[in-house]
Amino acid sequence: MSTFDAIILGAGAAGLFCGVEAAARGRRVVVLDHAARPGEKIRISGGGRCNFTNQSLTRQNAPERFLSENPRFALSALSRFTARDMIARIEAAGIPWHEKHSGQLFFDGKAHRLVEHFCAALPEGALRLGVAVEAVDRAAEGFVVRTSEGELRAPRVIVATGGKSIPKIGASGLGYKIAESFGLRVTETRPGLVPLTFAEQDLARTAPLAGISLPARVRVAKRVFDEALLFTHRGLSGPAILQASSYWQPGEGLTIDLAPGRDLVAELAAIRAETGRIAVQTALARLLPEKLAQVLVAESGVSGRLADLSNRALGPLVSRAQDWQIRPVGSEGYRTAEVTVGGVATEALDAKTLEAKAIPGLHFIGEVVDVTGWLGGYNFQWAWSSAWAAAQVI
Ligand code: FDA
Repeated sequence: MSTFDAIILGAGAAGLFCGVEAAARGRRVVVLDHAARPGEKIRISGGGRCNFTNQSLTRQNAPERFLSENPRFALSALSRFTARDMIARIEAAGIPWHEKHSGQLFFDGKAHRLVEHFCAALPEGALRLGVAVEAVDRAAEGFVVRTSEGELRAPRVIVATGGKSIPKIGASGLGYKIAESFGLRVTETRPGLVPLTFAEQDLARTAPLAGISLPARVRVAKRVFDEALLFTHRGLSGPAILQASSYWQPGEGLTIDLAPGRDLVAELAAIRAETGRIAVQTALARLLPEKLAQVLVAESGVSGRLADLSNRALGPLVSRAQDWQIRPVGSEGYRTAEVTVGGVATEALDAKTLEAKAIPGLHFIGEVVDVTGWLGGYNFQWAWSSAWAAAQVI
């Protein structure tokens, strides 16, 4: 006879919250994790302050803000347990929060407060750390979970082992293996919300700009992201690039406007009218970071005094700044990716309970599912919503 109503695999965002919610409903749960500490990604997220949700998320914009083969799959869970509901939980826990921008909510203090709150809300002995899950099999009744510490049995198993990003802090990809072992399809997975890297010849030009951050408009695969861009020693990063990376496929290019919403020709013309004798590079350095201006001028081949350059002659320089076509060669990979795009195919899962339709009692929640949010608190909200949805049927 099993002593648990459910075994939850993974004590990350989704697993911890699922355990807390199920325990609050009087269910007997055990949460297993191979890591020494629970909720590591909650702890390190948002620069230690955890962007725990996004209050601009609505039923209408959700299909756009989550990548999935079926962008409507997440709606059921997201609309039954919303950002508002999570804010209420955070407030009840006495954790102060604030909005940074664009609906992104962060804690005022350290994110580990939420992990501590979850751990305190779990019944004694319900959290077992340092236990590596190896496999899940069907048993005569329910399931048997094979672990480094022996076998556990329960009528329900909730797979909350996350994706492949940041193996250093516990990511293993085990959830995909469990899904496949039960005949469930796993969509192609790739690193998302990740810096992109350049080929050597492009790096030779951009690496000296490493550290420069500026507002940009990045276009990729019919998507447009208006956020900060950061030049790095390997290529590009910053929120605009992280967002674009989730849509970027190898071989594709990005189109980047380094002065979004501005008319650089008009701005240069205004400088020319005032001080035409200055070099175009000096003029551009009044409008963009100086080193960037140097590189843009060198690459565009537009040089000389501003007074000698017509608006038309400035064209190549402005188009290099505002219509920069660049083809990254790769990404920094799972080592630094914030998420894994792709996962357990949604068609196999019940959107309301996250239970595998063909395997009653087996649920997949959080990042292991083929639901990947934009940057800005969407991934944690998916973890909370999907965890809550599964907890209602434990
Ligand atoms: P999560 O990865 O949290 O948990 C999975 C757990 O399973 C881990 O504890 C792991 O140790 C365990 N596990 C794996 N294999 C196992 C095995 N074989 N046996 C036992 N245990 C096993 N999102 C957001 O909305 N706002 C933000 O600010 C950020 N910031 C951020 C920063 C960084 C650096 C990263 C890497 C990620 C983010 N994210 C984010 C994304 C967010 O952290 C992520 O989407 C959620 O943590 C996913 O929650 P899960 O519970 O599904 O997986």
